[in-house]
Amino acid sequence: MPTIKRIGVITSGGDCGGLNAVIKGVAREAYALGIESVVIPHGYAGLYNLIKMDEVVFLNAERVSKIEASLAGSEAGHSRVKISKIADPHKYERIKDGLKKFHIDALVISGGDDTGSVVVDLSSQGIPCVHVPKTMDLDLQSYSVGGDSAINRIAVFARELKTTGMSHNRILVIEVFGRYVGHTAFRGGIGAEADAILIPEIPVDFDVLYEHMKITYFARIERSDVKAGTYIIVVAEGIKNVNGEMLYDESIPPDAFGHRKLTGAGKYVRQQLEKRLNTDPAVKEFMQKTGMFAPGVYEAPEVREVTPGHLVRAGHSSARDVNFGYKTGAAAVFLLLDGKTGNTVVNVDGSRIYYQSTAEVIKRREVNVSEIAIFESLGTCFGRKPEKFMYEIIEQKGRIARHL
Ligand code: F6P
Repeated sequence: MPTIKRIGVITSGGDCGGLNAVIKGVAREAYALGIESVVIPHGYAGLYNLIKMDEVVFLNAERVSKIEASLAGSEAGHSRVKISKIADPHKYERIKDGLKKFHIDALVISGGDDTGSVVVDLSSQGIPCVHVPKTMDLDLQSYSVGGDSAINRIAVFARELKTTGMSHNRILVIEVFGRYVGHTAFRGGIGAEADAILIPEIPVDFDVLYEHMKITYFARIERSDVKAGTYIIVVAEGIKNVNGEMLYDESIPPDAFGHRKLTGAGKYVRQQLEKRLNTDPAVKEFMQKTGMFAPGVYEAPEVREVTPGHLVRAGHSSARDVNFGYKTGAAAVFLLLDGKTGNTVVNVDGSRIYYQSTAEVIKRREVNVSEIAIFESLGTCFGRKPEKFMYEIIEQKGRIARHL
């Protein structure tokens, strides 16, 4: 068993809900075991620069009590730095010297797939570290803090946008973060009872989306006594265009992990719908029938895109993320004491702490598309012809490891 007297806490990658609970979980558990904990600021940039720092912040009882677990973001700060890419041949020695300077024996590092890949790297360099899963994208093999908070915020934004959508009879396209997978768009969209949800895992057939929109939205307005209605589409930023390419900002170079800044999915969807609305003779007829038609001025319903951007991972953490962050932060201390470097805390279920090698946990998890058909049977459009829900009925035997 390694002797650990002081733990450094790092948060890295995109911030999100639940991270402050992770920090508090580590600090309070360490304190209870007579171990000190300190913040290494600015993610991996701070780890690299530790040697140059005059002091580090101790997570003593007084400092920890000032951290609000229910607030999203991280008191430890973030950066998107890949250690192996730092242009310094002595980077690993420098990091070890920095840790030695502050008598830090081991690290708890909370982050997503990119952060996890650095955990694997640091661990192989002989730096003891345990990973706590964090990402609003939910693309790790295990649950990660930040996912539930982001889903709830997406659901609230999409739901609340209906009031302005209804007032103008607009079709609203809400583009949300999630990188290459559609977990948060999918679950947040369902939470908002969105009419359509577009995710990277399902190539979009815009004719199918347009037909669903026409049927749903036209009928909604025609049925309304005040002829009001909207149609809500939640689109994941990672969907591909007809050429199978993701949409990104070409003016921003890829980050250290090779990711482009995804943007433009909402605009692309809007343009696809506008193209069809402007050439469909049934639209003019509908506008006339519902009293909206104004020649030369208002001949087709408007489509607007809304991009909440960083708002979906800002603000507050959900209670679920605070719970998960607290217990996995605490469990990371036990794993370190048990010498489980290079591993991820997967869950704490009852008195069991589950862990898995970080190299495995960071393998990308996509939306299980076989579940989509049940929502299609309930009326939600996923930009494809609805498929039959192929189910199996299975009796559960024994206990399932739960996340909460
Ligand atoms: O990985 C988390 C995430 O929020 C993605 O969903 C999003 O694409 C990205 O980070 C945005 O990163 P940044 O804040 O660095 O622009």
